[in-house]
Amino acid sequence: MTVHKEIDAVTGTETTGHVWDGDLKELNKPLPRWWLTVLYSCIVWAIGYWVAYPAWPLIDGYTQGMLGYSQRSEVAKDVAAAKEAQAKFVAAIAERAPADIEKDADLMEFVLRGGATQFANNCAPCHGRGAQGFKGYPNLNDDDWLWGGTDENIERTVRYGIRSGHAESRESAMPRFGIDQILTSAQISDTATFVLSLSGTAGDPAAAERGKVVFAEQCVACHGAEGKGTLEMGAPNLTDGIWLYGGGKADVEETIRTGRGGVMPAWDGKLDPVTIKMLAIYVHALGGGK
Ligand code: HEC
Ligand code: HEC
Repeated sequence: MTVHKEIDAVTGTETTGHVWDGDLKELNKPLPRWWLTVLYSCIVWAIGYWVAYPAWPLIDGYTQGMLGYSQRSEVAKDVAAAKEAQAKFVAAIAERAPADIEKDADLMEFVLRGGATQFANNCAPCHGRGAQGFKGYPNLNDDDWLWGGTDENIERTVRYGIRSGHAESRESAMPRFGIDQILTSAQISDTATFVLSLSGTAGDPAAAERGKVVFAEQCVACHGAEGKGTLEMGAPNLTDGIWLYGGGKADVEETIRTGRGGVMPAWDGKLDPVTIKMLAIYVHALGGGK
């Protein structure tokens, strides 16, 4: 090709020889060498990448690449490594008694972290993220226990549940004194007044006296002579001012009238034994457990 090179008078740059409209000339300004080098190296690198790594979509699947890399296999490797690191902790938890685990700082860190995650996944919907509880769902942070706050008690509660239908479940319930016409409305009102007086809420003294008589006949079998509750029956302490179903007079009357029986599911079979033990130790640690 013949090229009519000429130097442009204004810019002093060589022209390509292309001319438009008679006098419009194109300057010869090639792309800088460094820029081209980068461009070509990128192209070479991209081709190498396509060959080495998964790259092109196919009709079903994608090109796998020669290195056999996939994010899935990377994750699987990480998970396997984490499982291996956990294995010795898991074995120790399975073997050792809770009290013994609690003395081991490293093991406890593992238990508390794992327990917190499991709690958030399985228990928080009912007991709250901070285990603070809601009406009918006990607060697990305080040291007030329906069924007992030792590691063993808590583990049993979590494993078999409460009124859960599991053969080993914790049973017993607060009877329906009103609905089943064991007590009249007046007696229920009097008994509620007496129950509230146990935690220092004063009411009509004459009503409380009458309620005390009813309490002695109907309630002490489960709640104890002083109303302090019985763990074996899951019957709450009525003297501590902590209420599962509310501590207003109307709440207490409602409890006596309709009975109560909260249901906590059994986790046996849904969570493995090590996870259940971790959860028990975690809950125990939350509440300054007994
Ligand atoms: C479907 C709701 C629900 C879920 C989910 C649930 N709980 Fe409960 N839990 C309850 C109820 C209701 C009670 C109170 C039962 C009663 O009134 O005796 C309870 C009681 C307990 C108690 C006994 C407290 C005491 O004072 O003795 C513990 C411990 C406990 N739950 C731990 C857990 C743990 C740990 C999990 C997660 C693995 C969990 N709960 C999941 C509803 C639930
Ligand atoms: C058969 C055993 C039993 C008897 C008898 C019984 N209770 Fe209960 N009571 C329970 C149980 C169990 C609970 C807890 C229910 C639950 O956790 O859902 C309870 C809960 C309560 C509560 C709720 C406490 C709270 O924290 O909200 C009150 C109040 C109460 N009982 C008062 C009485 C009174 C008053 C009587 C007598 C008239 C009585 N109970 C008789 C077993 C009994």
